[in-house]
Amino acid sequence: MVAQWLAQQPCSAGVLGSNPTLDNICKEFDAVEEDQASMYNSLFTNTSKEMMCYSDFPMPEDFPVYLHHSKILEYLNLYAERFNLFKYIQFETKVCSVKQHSSFATTGKWNIEIEKEGKMKMDVFDAVIVCNGHYNDPYLPLDCFPGLKHFKGHHIHSRFYKTCEPYRGKSVVVVGTGNSAGDISVELSHIAKQVYLSTRHGSWVISKISYGGFPIDMTISRRYTMWIKNFLPRMLAAKITEKIMSSWFTHSNFGLEPKFRQKPPIINDYLPSHILQGSIKVKPSIKSFSETSVIFEDGTEADVDEVIFATGYNSTFPFLDDDILKLNNNDISLYKYVFPMYLGKPTLAFLGLIQPLGAIMPTAELQARWATRVFRGLVLGGLKFYKYITLIT
Ligand SMILES: Cc1cc2nc3c(=O)[nH]c(=O)nc-3n(C[C@H](O)[C@H](O)[C@H](O)COP(=O)(O)OP(=O)(O)OC[C@H]3O[C@@H](n4cnc5c(N)ncnc54)[C@H](O)[C@@H]3O)c2cc1C
Ligand SMILES: NC(=O)c1ccc[n+]([C@@H]2O[C@H](COP(=O)([O-])OP(=O)(O)OC[C@H]3O[C@@H](n4cnc5c(N)ncnc54)[C@H](OP(=O)(O)O)[C@@H]3O)[C@@H](O)[C@H]2O)c1
Repeated sequence: MVAQWLAQQPCSAGVLGSNPTLDNICKEFDAVEEDQASMYNSLFTNTSKEMMCYSDFPMPEDFPVYLHHSKILEYLNLYAERFNLFKYIQFETKVCSVKQHSSFATTGKWNIEIEKEGKMKMDVFDAVIVCNGHYNDPYLPLDCFPGLKHFKGHHIHSRFYKTCEPYRGKSVVVVGTGNSAGDISVELSHIAKQVYLSTRHGSWVISKISYGGFPIDMTISRRYTMWIKNFLPRMLAAKITEKIMSSWFTHSNFGLEPKFRQKPPIINDYLPSHILQGSIKVKPSIKSFSETSVIFEDGTEADVDEVIFATGYNSTFPFLDDDILKLNNNDISLYKYVFPMYLGKPTLAFLGLIQPLGAIMPTAELQARWATRVFRGLVLGGLKFYKYITLIT
């Protein structure tokens, strides 16, 4: 999609990707590849096809509303073919470093070091868009779990979870209450002896299906609802949101009540019923591990064989120096989540470093459209901002 918006500018464009094809996150690799996001084989999107397609290319009519990840790959390939984008993409080309060119202060140019077929090469580019994804580097806070090193069972991060088969007949603890934890717990509960879902702060859980059978993101992400939300006093808006989030079931009865009211929801149609069936038991945070069991904060103990840490991801940019982008606890200071501040020239943009309430693709498309126009100096807002930042530094 970046290629699509770059291609519409009168400039030469190139997209460098370390993959051999467009497969990236959407392919079922049994092994987990470096620099690649990974996903379990059973994954279906939690955003609807109508809300996640690019504005210039609707999803095919025969696609279902919620898509298996293989369908997303099919869509991306159709998109690239439709707009003849493959010619811009250099596959199997890894970006190793991005540094300011000696003339950066006046030209905004960048030196890019790339690795292709085992050979290193340096090239100069007028502008750079970084979209290396932010689900590649697992966040695994093992220090938070006393006794884990004595635990004799196995533990993995959800990035390495592919299928439930290895967990047949076992007792498994899934740590976290994001969408990964929800999906994996439900899948495991069909064949595991027992699944424990350990939650630190709880989470709203909502269904994919909204009023009248419409996809939930079609009813939530509307100008009208956003307008009302922004118009109302914050406390009142939060109260109404809470009421909507808890309208499906009373979260406190399921041990899932969020400790922070503003927590983004997870979307999972099966989690509440599997909790009611007892195949998933909700537990608070883990206090400690013994050799064969887990002790939870409420004092209960469970014998377990396996632990899956569905604890999320770090955003990392190994090819960027710290002085270009300072990362503070996964918190990145970017103007409108796209442009790094204090660079002096708006020729470096980041895409997709956001967690929208809904699909990422349309938001990333808008970011790409904006960034490519800022590069060409067509959007004064960006330039004014840079002049302002330069003035105050
Ligand atoms: C399990 C899971 C389920 C998800 N489900 C949904 C969903 O239902 N709906 C939704 O909207 N979002 C979903 N997301 C989020 C969505 O997948 C991501 O936001 C989206 O893939 C981001 O796209 P991207 O192109 O920025 O990054 P990615 O898809 O991760 O692609 C990054 C690319 O950069 C390449 N790369 C990395 N480093 C380098 C380098 N040094 N040099 C060259 N190339 C490099 C990688 O090879 C890769 O091809 C999900 C995420 C996960 C993990
Ligand atoms: N079906 C789908 O479409 C699907 C499936 C999976 C993932 N995704 C997407 O992929 C992205 C990543 O999701 P994710 O679920 O892997 O990660 P995530 O949303 O970042 O969730 C991480 C979870 O780990 C918990 N956690 C972090 N550190 C912890 C600690 N020290 N102790 C206990 N718990 C800890 C967090 O708890 P707190 O909440 O308490 O901080 C949170 O519940 C999201 O965008 C998600 O929507 C989509």
